[in-house]
Amino acid sequence: MVHADYSNLKKGDFSKTETLQHILDSYSALETDNWVANLSNCSSLLWHAYHSLNINVNWTGFYLTNDKKQGTELILGPFQGKVACQEIQFGKGVCGTAASSRLTQLVPNVEEFPGHIACDGETKSEIVVPIVKDGETRGVIDLDCLDLEGFDEVDQEYLEKLAELISKCL
Ligand code: SME
Repeated sequence: MVHADYSNLKKGDFSKTETLQHILDSYSALETDNWVANLSNCSSLLWHAYHSLNINVNWTGFYLTNDKKQGTELILGPFQGKVACQEIQFGKGVCGTAASSRLTQLVPNVEEFPGHIACDGETKSEIVVPIVKDGETRGVIDLDCLDLEGFDEVDQEYLEKLAELISKCL
């Protein structure tokens, strides 16, 4: 087995829950003591796993709490997809709302989310999961999809487990 095999899921081979569990197991297997390495590989795991489910994700990645801004701003972290905005204030957009409320934001239609920040006009739906450690938001997981209702409560359940694993390195 080589590292890339963690991303080599064949379309249709696994159920949604099996695929999401694969992300959790792979993250743990690849985990290092460095957040850059962990989140970089995790963005790739997310990208390939969701595409294997025929879910048209166009962005899979992270925003991290910017310690230089006293925990009031998120700064762009490792991701897969097109270039995105670098800074998001806590409370703004889907990411900033998840960060300030420490609650997952499941958005079936981004046009119906007040204040949604459109980094890519093609995005139709989004899920953002806060990564919380010691009661403070350390960052968020952000997934965008080209289709409406790209994500559901099953995604939320597994991504919240992923956030818990990631919180250890932030
Ligand atoms: N749509 C997000 C901004 C980040 S991009 O989707 C990568 C938001 O409203 O916070």
